[in-house]
Amino acid sequence: MKVLGIFGSPRRQGNSDTLMKAFLQGAAEAGALVEEIFIRDQKISPCLEIYHCFKDGTCPIKDEMRGLYDKLLEADVVALGSPVFFYSVSAQAKAMIDRTQALWARRYVLKDDFPGGNRQGVLLCTGATKGRLLFVGSRLVAKYFFDAINVRYAAEVLVQARDLGLRLAQGEVLGPIKMDPLAV
Ligand SMILES: Cc1cc2nc3c(=O)[nH]c(=O)nc-3n(C[C@H](O)[C@H](O)[C@H](O)COP(=O)(O)O)c2cc1C
Repeated sequence: MKVLGIFGSPRRQGNSDTLMKAFLQGAAEAGALVEEIFIRDQKISPCLEIYHCFKDGTCPIKDEMRGLYDKLLEADVVALGSPVFFYSVSAQAKAMIDRTQALWARRYVLKDDFPGGNRQGVLLCTGATKGRLLFVGSRLVAKYFFDAINVRYAAEVLVQARDLGLRLAQGEVLGPIKMDPLAV
């Protein structure tokens, strides 16, 4: 069992890093082969929209994304960690995700054989403020990222802890929570 943890925050040891570390610790305890990718330490250009990938499913940009494509295809579980930045994922995470357009092209344009959908995707996301829609943007990005690499969006941990404490302490009545993890 290979579990790939993608740390998407620019901040070291921040909130989403903490979530991801805990998640990967659990996976390691269960015997998984865990790999950590810190996007902030990698040179990953944004997509340049050359559309070379539509021809052969590869991206001509020579940077560290090249080492990530196979890992994304080989992992049984892909976990994406990111803070909410302006109602989306971080720019670092988004650049990596946009570059998976090459895999999307393999899957949907070239219709190549693709590693199967028994693989699972997990979003670990942290935000600071309040708002019912705080995670909507990040969840949609994650949903289509996981679709591009053909993993099933299986679970998510969305943390809004400071705001939650504030609201409950002010007497706000919350819930009941929706149990459909993909309901946005
Ligand atoms: C550029 C930037 C944009 C942010 N945008 C939002 C936002 O739209 N909504 C929100 O609740 N928090 C926002 N935040 C706060 C972070 O989501 C929050 O502090 C998060 O827990 C940081 O996670 P990290 O420690 O893993 O980086 C933003 C922070 C930064 C630096």
